Amino acid sequence: MMQAAYKTVKSDGGNMKRANFPINRRNFLLASGAAVVAGGCQLRAEEVEPLQLRSRLTSYAFDRPATRGLVSLLDNAPPPVIRLRQNQPAVIDLTNGLDDYTTMHWHGVRLPNAMDGVPYLTQFPIAKDETFRYAYTPPDAGTYWYHPHCMTMKQMAHGLTGILIVEEPDDVGFDEDLALNLKDFRLDGDGRLLPFFTPKGAARAGTLGNTLTANWRINPRHDVPAGGLVRLRIAVTDTTRLYRLVLPDLSGRIVAWDGHPVNEPVPWPTMETPLWIGPGQRVDIALRMPDGEGAEVSLGTLIGATLRPLASLRSVGKSLKRDLAELRPLPPNPLAEPDLKAAEVRELVFGWTPDGNGQRNGLCGSSEFSFWSIDRKPWPGDAVPNVGPVADLERGKSYVLRLRNESPNMHPIHLHGLVFLPVASNRRRLPRNWTDTILLLKNETVDIALTADNPGDWAFHCHVIEHQKTGLAGYIRVS
Ligand code: C2O
Ligand code: CU
Ligand code: CU
Repeated sequence: MMQAAYKTVKSDGGNMKRANFPINRRNFLLASGAAVVAGGCQLRAEEVEPLQLRSRLTSYAFDRPATRGLVSLLDNAPPPVIRLRQNQPAVIDLTNGLDDYTTMHWHGVRLPNAMDGVPYLTQFPIAKDETFRYAYTPPDAGTYWYHPHCMTMKQMAHGLTGILIVEEPDDVGFDEDLALNLKDFRLDGDGRLLPFFTPKGAARAGTLGNTLTANWRINPRHDVPAGGLVRLRIAVTDTTRLYRLVLPDLSGRIVAWDGHPVNEPVPWPTMETPLWIGPGQRVDIALRMPDGEGAEVSLGTLIGATLRPLASLRSVGKSLKRDLAELRPLPPNPLAEPDLKAAEVRELVFGWTPDGNGQRNGLCGSSEFSFWSIDRKPWPGDAVPNVGPVADLERGKSYVLRLRNESPNMHPIHLHGLVFLPVASNRRRLPRNWTDTILLLKNETVDIALTADNPGDWAFHCHVIEHQKTGLAGYIRVS
């Protein structure tokens, strides 16, 4: 018997209680925030009802007069959490309701190259009122996210970033599953959007927002079952900010890193040892809530020496008396362990732009400024002919990419379509956890290892979008 388990979202950031799935497909599609999830049996793509998404301009009130000119997939609400299921096909029709071109990228998902959403590299930009169909079957469970890859800076800074959850086929034992999409907005006192790009910022650490939000809310509080086990999925979707996360002092552990179950423990973040997590990265945390009704725990980020709250959770109801020990490890994703002995080493250098100039064509929002480079070549912009890959890899082989940061800034370096393991650093011991985005410290060199098992041209760039758009971008070819 085929049973569709659709899941939807609410305007308060797209989270939902497990207990009240809407079962009416029409309602849920009208709410336009739902994802195609099939349970029970394998569906073929043609049997899946497409999820209809439409990017649009909207307005939303943060803590001041409503901000206009935001970009979302819903009216007056953040982009929804989309829930897919591992190994089940998803069909997503994205209609561009904006005047600018767009595309959608599914960050961290290992999918066919043509579905990757990178303008000119994998598809043509989607024009106003056009629809592009993204169809793929996610092979890995975990926490991912989505964002445009054309007019990236503007559309993301103005709100178009959402969490994509790929559920494990079987229940993994939590009482609550809560996703927090962390991003800043840059607003003036009247709620107007301030410029998201400044040459000064782009040439340094980036232009920071001034309004910290989780699911577009300022320090929201979520009610969760007292004494329950909560899976907290945190995604940093900001264009610039590197968070230094501090978690509440209670029993919990980090269960997944950048989508994948951890191989090696990641220390619990405290005020003394906050967790660095950069744009593009995700962390899944298992938390055991306090027993007492009304008890509140909060998470925050350190800015300088100040702890700024991001969100809190409140225990409600009679304690469920759960125990962290009841959680089995998350099932591993089917990833191909690279063969380090056979791996060829390729070095890639991230730094300034040698000559400092650059006249990009402006397509898809690339900047006329050129500050950054890979191997001393700044990305010349989208749709520039004859731009080769920064590395050409043979399909099926193992590689070590030696990523050398020659700059005093930190860069979250992201690779599309493949995942990799950090295997060495000249500055610290990195846990060997699978990832798609590695945060390079100042002057750090990190070796990452991968199996080049997904063919295509895969974008490879810094996820500080001002760096990406002023040169710190390229692509890796697997063929
Ligand atoms: Cu999250 Cu190329 O992007
Ligand atoms: Cu990506
Ligand atoms: Cu960067």
